[in-house]
Amino acid sequence: MMKKIILVLFFLAFPISSFAENANSEDKKAFIDDLLSKMTITEKVGQLRLVSVGGNLTLDKVLDQIEAGEIGGIFNTVVEPDLSNMQDRALKSPNKIPLFLGFDVIHGHRTVFPINLGIASTWDRNAIGKAAQVSADEATSDGLNITWSPMVDITRDPRWGRVSEGFGEDPYLTSEAGRIFVKNMQKQILTDNKSLVTTVKHFALYGAVEAGREYNSTDMSERKMFQEYLVPYKAAIDAGSRAVMVSLASVNGIPATANHWLLTDVLRHQWHFDGVVISDHGAIRELINHGVASDPKDAVRVAIKAGIDVSMNDEYFLKYIPELINEGVLTDDEINQACRHVLELKYDMGLFTNPHRNLDRQLDIDTMFANNRLHREEARDVARRSIVLLKNKNKVLPLAKNQKIAVIGPLADSKRDMLGSWSGAGRVNLAVTPLEGIQKAVKNPNLVSYAFGANLSDDQQLYKFLNLYDMTAKYDERPADTMIAEAVKQANKADVVVAFVGEAEGMAHESSSRTDLSLPASQKRLIKALKATGKPLVIALMNGRPLTLTEEFEQVDAMLETWFLGTEGGNAIADVLFGDYNPSGKLAMSFPMSVGQIPVYYSHLNTGRPKGTVNMGKYTTSYFDSPNEPLFPFGFGLSYTNFTINYSLSSNEMTKNGEIVVTATVENIGDKQGTQTVQLYLQDVTATVSRPVKELMGFENINLKPHEKGEVKFVIKPEMLKFWNDKMQYVAEPGKFNVFVGSDSTTQNKQSFTLLDK
Ligand code: BGC
Repeated sequence: MMKKIILVLFFLAFPISSFAENANSEDKKAFIDDLLSKMTITEKVGQLRLVSVGGNLTLDKVLDQIEAGEIGGIFNTVVEPDLSNMQDRALKSPNKIPLFLGFDVIHGHRTVFPINLGIASTWDRNAIGKAAQVSADEATSDGLNITWSPMVDITRDPRWGRVSEGFGEDPYLTSEAGRIFVKNMQKQILTDNKSLVTTVKHFALYGAVEAGREYNSTDMSERKMFQEYLVPYKAAIDAGSRAVMVSLASVNGIPATANHWLLTDVLRHQWHFDGVVISDHGAIRELINHGVASDPKDAVRVAIKAGIDVSMNDEYFLKYIPELINEGVLTDDEINQACRHVLELKYDMGLFTNPHRNLDRQLDIDTMFANNRLHREEARDVARRSIVLLKNKNKVLPLAKNQKIAVIGPLADSKRDMLGSWSGAGRVNLAVTPLEGIQKAVKNPNLVSYAFGANLSDDQQLYKFLNLYDMTAKYDERPADTMIAEAVKQANKADVVVAFVGEAEGMAHESSSRTDLSLPASQKRLIKALKATGKPLVIALMNGRPLTLTEEFEQVDAMLETWFLGTEGGNAIADVLFGDYNPSGKLAMSFPMSVGQIPVYYSHLNTGRPKGTVNMGKYTTSYFDSPNEPLFPFGFGLSYTNFTINYSLSSNEMTKNGEIVVTATVENIGDKQGTQTVQLYLQDVTATVSRPVKELMGFENINLKPHEKGEVKFVIKPEMLKFWNDKMQYVAEPGKFNVFVGSDSTTQNKQSFTLLDK
């Protein structure tokens, strides 16, 4: 009897799950200790190498190195029989350690979803989760087990081409998206057949490269880092992301790959990250150019000392780590520790017991990329939720299906440009263009006419740039006037013109920075000519970054931001054009009026001289040749219906451990069913440091029928009021807070409460 009681007490004190976890972690430690004791230094270094086939590294060489235990993971191979073959060879290596099989699954896999800036514009947690989950399902079902995603770099400079890959300018929205990606891709249990290990990137601040120029330096106060830019990486790590990829850029004078403070003090010690730290492609050898390493061997030393575990596509680890150990420059412990991070992750993924997870079908290429393996319905739904309605004068949209429509523009029928950057496993021929989507949606396809209208640009250099590695953009050799005349002819015969303009997908990519964000002259001429026809003019933008569109905004009747929407883009655009889906997207990044305003973002600090309205604003913070405000603010997006939002606070005082409930009543005052995203912003009015004029702290969607009312609730908790104060402590300071609830970041719908000191 006594024994039983003791046993019960024992289990009460040690819950079964933690008992099992401890047992598991002891097993794991014993397994890895044993493995490490059997591994040669070459094999240990092998675990720290991520390699892709290409250049000098032929497939045969890679396979031989795998079998020799010199490679721990491969990436950029997506075909199942090849992956399977590689894993077979790994199991023939001295200690039979299975490989990571990695790929950039950024916004979809075989089915391509909208670029992430578009996915973020859904402001819809379910849609974001769906995109991530389908991507992971597809990638894992082809045998992949790790990805270099999500990219959560905060981006406030649209000159940078990689803004297309991220979730925009805001820490909260980006954190939410990153967290949801991790949960839906990696899942809770790493041995799950559908778990795709995530790698949050690019740690850190890559989105803040100076002047938006790719790979440039970043420099930022620690307060701004911890308050804003580091927040989303932390959120993704807290959500469980087991790997981190390091930025190619420098952070406050020290390249991230060489930055001990960032990779060890912050990531390991402050945040307790115990996963795998991966350097970006070629980053280790680049340390020589950065000027922090004298030669390749020195670069290896610097990277390992800073806290890099795994090197992506650098040949130097294998060559120099053993030498550096022999010379006593690197220690066995340092290499064992890095190797342990890798082995622990492989253990948790169940790779040692199930190395061939999802690799048993040996699908041939045609079957692998077959149309019937796509998730078109999910992609179409996320894509239409990503579209943002920016203008709709005289309700020119939605269109009627019996109208004569002229579909015009260089992007109207371009399959390649539907997919956007980082869509390596997507198949261009499976994408639906806007022209195809519109033709399918209307009852009588004869109502739809088409003209190319203009090249994307007159600049031959741009085409050379776009086609440097692949033929992705085609230049039409016909005279510009001929193409415009053809477009005008179609426009004249139609009831309405829909023009697809913007960027080629290659213009918004890694290494695609721009200084001029306006539409190229060729497209401007086309729009002007279409406008001159007097026909209602809708422009649907396809682009991977905010553009400067002041002129077009004046010219056109309606404007839709459609990003690069992915495989089902054309159908999603048709859904919105014809009102089968009432647009609900909201911008995740402000659209500047001009490049000169950059960076323009809503959550800036106030100044001592806020913009004044008298004497032309002189001696207040302003430009004399431009407004301060962007053309389209963060959080902005229209609908085919209208909403009102009113709200109340449960109290105007909050104790230190209390909370305030915000109840917003939303009414659809228009005549169409639609979704509104209600946004909650807070402002700490007075603190020991200047605080932003507004910060997003919550958002919720509500779908309402015409004249229907509904409620949305938010709970303000003390945690949401915390910030890095004058002493760099993360605290909430008592005092007055403003609350704003509305439909975008310009809302002035303000109330206040006081945080008490008790
Ligand atoms: C990019 C990373 C990417 C890696 C592997 C690099 O050029 O910066 O984001 O994951 O390549 O493809």
